[in-house]
Amino acid sequence: MICSMKKSLKLRAVVSPTPAIIAAAYDENGKADACTLAFYTPSSHKPPCLTIAINSTAKRKTLKSILGSGAFTVGYPSIEQAAEADWIGMASGYDHDKIAEVGWTTAKAEKVNAPVISELKLTVECKVVNTVDIGSHTQITGEVVNIQADESILDENGKYSLEKLNPIIYDEEHWRYLSVGSKTADAFKAGLVYKKN
Ligand SMILES: Cc1cc2nc3c(=O)[nH]c(=O)nc-3n(C[C@H](O)[C@H](O)[C@H](O)COP(=O)(O)O)c2cc1C
Repeated sequence: MICSMKKSLKLRAVVSPTPAIIAAAYDENGKADACTLAFYTPSSHKPPCLTIAINSTAKRKTLKSILGSGAFTVGYPSIEQAAEADWIGMASGYDHDKIAEVGWTTAKAEKVNAPVISELKLTVECKVVNTVDIGSHTQITGEVVNIQADESILDENGKYSLEKLNPIIYDEEHWRYLSVGSKTADAFKAGLVYKKN
């Protein structure tokens, strides 16, 4: 194997690929707000949990709304919705009714007190189970209590299809959005070529 010289890059937390997701919550007046996030990771199988991180040193209305309501949703915009997701990640709910500005609408989630953005085809409903402050960000772990998927993104086995969802991949190195490529191998199978016995 040929290994080329390595170079140190600028320090930052995001190393692509990461999806650009949209976290949404109700404020103290019941108004829906949302922000786009790249700091997102699955964090537990049992119970199913995911963790997001929101900058607590900057203007983030959604953070206040999530901590106040104890609930949030995570929605996955498709690449065709990149402009909408981008605006929701640029304007603050303190100054803008940005969900309406991009022409989106909300409905109350089925299992938590948080908004579901109707135009997003996959949405995970979460109740807050833990928060941790790390440096500039507050990490919020939510237990997944419901997942809503549009029928249009389901395959013949009722599983959601990444190809149909076409989620946004955020490239933090170049500040751009990319789409998911095609399947190249089967997970938990491709590596079996290295199994000796
Ligand atoms: C692609 C993208 C990714 C982002 N990721 C994060 C993130 O992980 N954490 C964060 O605090 N802000 C992130 N932001 C910035 C917020 O979405 C932005 O500040 C938003 O305006 C906050 O809105 P709010 O005040 O209504 O909550 C991101 C923005 C974009 C465009």
